[in-house]
Amino acid sequence: MQTGVSTGTAPGTNPIAADPKSAIPTAEGAPKNAQRIGVPTEVFPGEKRVATVPEVVGKLIKLGFLVSVQSGAGDAANVSDEAYRAVGATIVPDAAQLWATSDIVFKVRAPTTDEVGLMHEGGTLISFIWPAQNPELMQQLAAKKVTVLAIDALPRMLSRAQKMDALTSMAGVTGYRAVIEAANAFGRFFNGQITAAGKVPPAKVFIAGAGVAGLAAIGTAAGLGAIVRANDTRAEVADQVKSLGGEFVKVEYEEEGGGGGGYAKVMSEGFQQAQRDMYAKQAKEVDIIITTALIPGKPAPKLITADMVKSMKPGSVIVDMAAEQGGNCELTEPGQSVVKHGVTIVGYTDLASRLSTQSSTLYATNLFRLAEELCKSKDGVINVNMEDDAIRGLTVVNQGSITWPAPAPKLPAAPVAAAAKPMAATAAKKGHGAPSEPMSGNKLAIMFGVAAALFWLIGANAPKEFMSHFTVFVLACFVGYMVVWNVKPALHTPLMSVTNAISSIIAIGALVQISPMADALSRPNSLITWVAAAAIVLTAINMFGGFAVTQRMLAMFRK
Ligand code: NAI
Repeated sequence: MQTGVSTGTAPGTNPIAADPKSAIPTAEGAPKNAQRIGVPTEVFPGEKRVATVPEVVGKLIKLGFLVSVQSGAGDAANVSDEAYRAVGATIVPDAAQLWATSDIVFKVRAPTTDEVGLMHEGGTLISFIWPAQNPELMQQLAAKKVTVLAIDALPRMLSRAQKMDALTSMAGVTGYRAVIEAANAFGRFFNGQITAAGKVPPAKVFIAGAGVAGLAAIGTAAGLGAIVRANDTRAEVADQVKSLGGEFVKVEYEEEGGGGGGYAKVMSEGFQQAQRDMYAKQAKEVDIIITTALIPGKPAPKLITADMVKSMKPGSVIVDMAAEQGGNCELTEPGQSVVKHGVTIVGYTDLASRLSTQSSTLYATNLFRLAEELCKSKDGVINVNMEDDAIRGLTVVNQGSITWPAPAPKLPAAPVAAAAKPMAATAAKKGHGAPSEPMSGNKLAIMFGVAAALFWLIGANAPKEFMSHFTVFVLACFVGYMVVWNVKPALHTPLMSVTNAISSIIAIGALVQISPMADALSRPNSLITWVAAAAIVLTAINMFGGFAVTQRMLAMFRK
């Protein structure tokens, strides 16, 4: 049952009698001052997601909270009232009662004016808000003297914030669903097939923008067997594209596209022209284009022109994930799927909602992680700690005061130019391919001088036999260092496995001990022979097993 919000309520009036909370039973064993989290039915037309799911309700209750869910709130995400009730949530019949009785409201979409009207002073709202795009809503919320945490304002660059990053989890779902929509509108298989009825070529998919959603789309399309190509203005994503089975197509124009914090910037006219030329070429070749290019705070860049659409093969598909921000394709109609020049252009703006069970579960988990941060004492009472970078970033209205935008979180503060150096050095260290900084001549000379002095000291005092072993040891260290240092971190696991296999060099020692064979056979019971034989057996397992495992691991990277 879907219960909408009462629209006849004047903003600012609480429709519930003096003590609405008395109408709701309190859970046994809940902490004394436990706050109630309320989850209303989403009222945005077509929105199927819900802000919490039964798996998460139990965890919220363990944090000490009481949980209410509006009757029917989970219906569109395939979660029944009964499932919520079974894990300890209270089902509330309508939106008015839910808002009036909740201390904290968990929502997906930003509240409507009617919903703001249902809020009560001192309450807390956690949902998507998009404060930059909704200044009027921000004023309404402030006037209500509430506290609002906008999940879209999370400082994503804080590693602690990743578990709460609903933008990323929703983008992952959106990217996946975009490919499914494309497959639905496309008249052929994605994978190539050779059948008795003829040979089917694999579909060619081009992905414009390889952020979180684009990467999810690349992985999904490649998993379905398509040939996937992708482009992004940020060159650093090339490796990520490749690791997901795609081919990175470069724009033949030198310009770095990073605008800070992992986001893109508006590119120069020269770059845009070169990019249009490349996209025009791709449009003629590929069957499906999926676009996801966005620049924070700017309209979506127009990457696919009407002429490019005209040049595509009949039956081709474009899925424009940027439709809500104006679209990456000139012919996109937001919210619609249209056919123009024989090409289906899908401009749905509710891709995450179309996978409502999955997206609701991920979103609910993100909000639970946020609840954990807000309620570290696990006593069912939140503490909006404005000293905490993540919480500060999220809080866009604090007890009626607009606190958005938040100051930049306290990351290792350094001017961009100064920060660039250590980053490049770190990248090189980690084997990301950035050139390492050359060591200064003086430093190098001192190092060689010290090393030479050490060698002389050891050589002058150590016995002769020791020196030959020592030389081999030093050379081995040097070769090992040179080999290992240039291996990419992603390949460290197979590297460990192969070095483990190579370490079976111990077998050579065992063979030395066991031979000469004739001699060993004449003394079959000598302890050393048996120990050496056992060493060979064990080492053989280690050696062949190690190489086999390495091959399997490398095969995964070759996909
Ligand atoms: P987004 O949705 O704002 O942008 C999508 C993609 O479009 C970006 O990769 C951007 O470079 C690309 N783009 C913009 N203009 C373009 C153009 N003209 N042509 C081609 N591509 C264009 O960004 P999203 O996906 O939310 O995040 C982008 C990046 O932010 C991630 O790839 C990651 O590097 C970083 N990030 C970091 C997080 C963290 O540190 N925890 C969390 C989330 C994102």
